[in-house]
Amino acid sequence: MYTFLIFIHSWLRWVLLILGLIVIIRSYIGWFGDKSYLKSDNTMSVVLVAIFHIQLILGLLLYFVYSPIVRSAFQDFGMAMKDSQLRYWAVEHIFIMLLSIVIAQVGRIRIKKVHSAVSKHRNAAIYFTLAFILILSRIPWDQSIRLFRGIAE
Ligand code: HEM
Repeated sequence: MYTFLIFIHSWLRWVLLILGLIVIIRSYIGWFGDKSYLKSDNTMSVVLVAIFHIQLILGLLLYFVYSPIVRSAFQDFGMAMKDSQLRYWAVEHIFIMLLSIVIAQVGRIRIKKVHSAVSKHRNAAIYFTLAFILILSRIPWDQSIRLFRGIAE
C-alpha cells in the first residue's frame, strides 16, 4: 500500500506543478492584459484545487498510517527533531504543504466571491503563486529516487 500511495502522491506532484504553472501564467496574462475570465479558467482552477485535496488525502494516509519514515520519527519525536531527514518528513513537509493547500483553497473561494474578471485573475495569480512557491520549497529535489517514482529506481 505504501508503494502504491507514494507512487500516486509523487506523480501527482508533477500534475499539480504543471497545471499550477499553466493556471498561474494564464491568470497573470488575464490580470495584466485585462482579459475575460473564461469558463476554461474556472474549470482549470477547480481541477487544480481538487488535486490539492487529493494530495491532502494521500498525504494524510501516508503520514498517519503508511510512511515508515514518519512512523520511525514518532517512535522518538525528540530525537527525530535532531535528525534533518526525520524532521523534514514529520514536521516541515506536512506543515508547509498544509499551508499551501489552505492558501489555494482560500484563493478558490476568493475567485468565486469576486465578480469582475480582473479580480478573479488577480486572486488566482496571487493565491496560486503563493501556494506554488510553498510547494516548490518543500519538495526534496535533491533525492533522485523521489523525482520519478517507478522510473528512476
Ligand atoms: C500540495 C501538496 C503536496 C505535494 C505537492 C506533496 C509532494 C510530495 C512529494 C514530491 C513527496 C516525495 C514522493 C516520493 O518519495 O516519491 C511526498 C512525500 C510525502 N508526503 Fe507529500 N505532498 C503534499 C502534501 C502532503 C501532505 C498535506 C502531507 C501530510 C498530511 C504529506 C505527507 C507526505 C508523506 C508522509 C510523504 C512520504 C514520506 C516517505 O517517504 O515515507 N504530503 N510529498
